[in-house]
Amino acid sequence: MNVLIIGSGAREHAMGWKISQSPALGKLYFAPGNPGTANLGVNLSLSAGDFPGIGEAALEHGIGLLLVGPEGPLVEGIADYFSREEKLKHIRVIGPKKSGARLEGSKDFAKEFLTRHHIPTARYASFHKEETEAGCRYLETLRPPYVLKADGLAAGKGVVILESLDEAKAALREMTAGKFGKAGDVVVIEEFLKGIELSVFVVTDGKEYVILPEAKDYKRIGHNDTGLNTGGMGAVSPVPFADAGFMQKVEQRIIQPTIRGIQEDQLDYTGFIFFGLINCGGDPKVIEYNVRMGDPETEAVMLRIESDFLELMNAAATGKLASYQLRTAPLVATTVMAVSQGYPGDFEKGKVISGYDKMDGACLFHAGTRMESGQLTTSGGRVLAVSATGQSRDEALAICYQNLNLISYEGKYFRKDIGFDL
Ligand SMILES: Nc1ncnc2c1ncn2[C@@H]1O[C@H](COP(=O)(O)OP(=O)(O)O)[C@@H](O)[C@H]1O
Ligand SMILES: [Mg+2]
Repeated sequence: MNVLIIGSGAREHAMGWKISQSPALGKLYFAPGNPGTANLGVNLSLSAGDFPGIGEAALEHGIGLLLVGPEGPLVEGIADYFSREEKLKHIRVIGPKKSGARLEGSKDFAKEFLTRHHIPTARYASFHKEETEAGCRYLETLRPPYVLKADGLAAGKGVVILESLDEAKAALREMTAGKFGKAGDVVVIEEFLKGIELSVFVVTDGKEYVILPEAKDYKRIGHNDTGLNTGGMGAVSPVPFADAGFMQKVEQRIIQPTIRGIQEDQLDYTGFIFFGLINCGGDPKVIEYNVRMGDPETEAVMLRIESDFLELMNAAATGKLASYQLRTAPLVATTVMAVSQGYPGDFEKGKVISGYDKMDGACLFHAGTRMESGQLTTSGGRVLAVSATGQSRDEALAICYQNLNLISYEGKYFRKDIGFDL
């Protein structure tokens, strides 16, 4: 079977790496992919939002399975497009339709869903931009810190947490005045939850589900989780506190009611659900839903999956998950992201990357790179993810760090404390 993966990051590179190990794979394509994915298959120079272009390419290359990496095209309806077009209907799509993608595309919708289906989450209220003053009065009834979330997609920048009431009111006014564009037309204000976060992933056909290895990611740029938020600086799987007892609570209180809710609400859903959870004194609560895999969690999770990932995707796409048994490696997988100096603020691009050919015992997944006349250069804030497995977290991390030290480019930065809090 020929497979087309939509996206251009290390997440898509890692999924492609895993799929390329499947004996069931014919040819592998990426749209648009990156210099790393070019070693696994064919990069098609199409943007993830060009549905007609992707549809044409899928027909031309005899694609049987479309795997959508990022949330953008899902929220914009790529799965709906493929099911609507007569000539594309036969292609299996991994990723929900627009109706289901709202679980990520609208934080207000997600909170309503969670409340309607009695799934543990922070208490909240939502305010339309015309209700900004009511939102300010609501803030007065809460205790700090204050959590404000722009309803729509905001590339991970739409959530702010503030210590003082005045700051919170000012932030609310900025959001509803258009700081995040239309994403801030509605703002969710919620109770602050204290605890340690983790990411739990399932693959579902909307009825049955398979739980993938969980992971913890590290979002802040600085050591000890300080400084600005990034797209993700590293990840570890498994998460020690997610033991059998905790995961049983996650499954019974969160995963099962979510799948039941998807059925009750008739959301046509085939794909991944990423549960952003927080452990509040032993009880899991939902911080958010995402409708795709996490980045950089995927770059660790894929290394722990022993099963044929393409077979799993096919089982999901054909409603055969009920009897599916996932095999996972009893190893620790870690990933560490190398970024450009200055990120997540301003940074320079076009720095020549060398030494990656000397890597040993680790996987290299490209995030923000370009191939310019035969030379690999940096082209983004997050540049490369280095992933490895080991018998312990320290062993896996040591392999990541040894390999990261072999790679050089001007302004290379990475966190040296991934997993520090576990
Ligand atoms: N209710 C909350 N209590 C405490 N921290 C929160 C809460 N909601 C969000 N956060 C923090 O903000 C981060 C981003 O929020 P999230 O809802 O995941 O939005 P997004 O990933 O779209 O930016 C979370 O990972 C968490 O660290
Ligand atoms: Mg999040």
